Amino acid sequence: MVAGDSIFFFFFFLLIASSAMASGGCVHPARAGYLSSLSVFSAGACGYGPMALGFNGGYVAAATSTLYRGGVACGACFQVRCKNMKICHSEGVKVILTDLNEGNGTELILSRPAFMAMAQHGMAKELKKLGTVDVEYMRIPCEFGNKNLSIRVEEQSQKPNYLAIKFLYQGGQTDIVAVDIAEVGSAHWQSMSRVKGPMWSTYRAPAGPLQIRLVVTSGYDGKWVWVRKEILSVHWTTGSVYDLGVQISDIAEDGCSSS
Ligand SMILES: *[C@@H]1O[C@H](CO)[C@@H](O)[C@H](O)[C@H]1NC(C)=O
Ligand SMILES: *[C@@H]1O[C@H](CO)[C@@H](O)[C@H](O)[C@H]1NC(C)=O
Repeated sequence: MVAGDSIFFFFFFLLIASSAMASGGCVHPARAGYLSSLSVFSAGACGYGPMALGFNGGYVAAATSTLYRGGVACGACFQVRCKNMKICHSEGVKVILTDLNEGNGTELILSRPAFMAMAQHGMAKELKKLGTVDVEYMRIPCEFGNKNLSIRVEEQSQKPNYLAIKFLYQGGQTDIVAVDIAEVGSAHWQSMSRVKGPMWSTYRAPAGPLQIRLVVTSGYDGKWVWVRKEILSVHWTTGSVYDLGVQISDIAEDGCSSS
């Protein structure tokens, strides 16, 4: 009997483990529509500009404020699955959040290519005709191939002391919650504040060369991401993108994977 019990528990454990893996995060019901014009997304609230259209093959999305979280969710990735199984396939589509849209009965507005990619082969026309559909979505880790986490120095930056940066290609499933910069070799860290979305700034930037460290959400907690090298020389220029040479692969628990 003892052996039987433990076998039972073993299978029970496997069942829990596999369902946790299949769902991963919280699955939410929602309504999704699409916008034909990609230019709307290039003016997106996250401030990525036309660059947004190059993210994820143009599979981008706008969400209502609950999901957008004051811009903290900019750059987060979601799997969106249309629930009409006559028209859509079950894999859904992976999108990256680049915009806020207060919707009109829809929580998610996808770019047209992303929306159409939910259709089964030959069903794109039917899906387009529906215009909006019931979906379920969950947050998933972002993957950018071999791209590292990077920063773009924003045009507002002004030497000597005002530095505004935007994070790009943030992998994993985490939120950046703190950013500090310091001169290379110095332990005098200066914290930056979130301006909006993926953009952070400080009026007290040292001249450089600069190093950076961040805190990202991970598990049920936070963790430091230290970039132990010079990320900006004294000759940094606005509009340039600088590779941080690290990537984030952590997953922040949303409390659903074990329930
Ligand atoms: C909301 O949707 C209705 C019906 O599709 C439309 O007539 C209306 O203009 C929309 N409102 C906004 C603010 O987009
Ligand atoms: C990412 O960072 C690693 C380690 O610093 C570096 O070797 C690699 O070239 C970077 N990748 C890209 C695409 O620049």
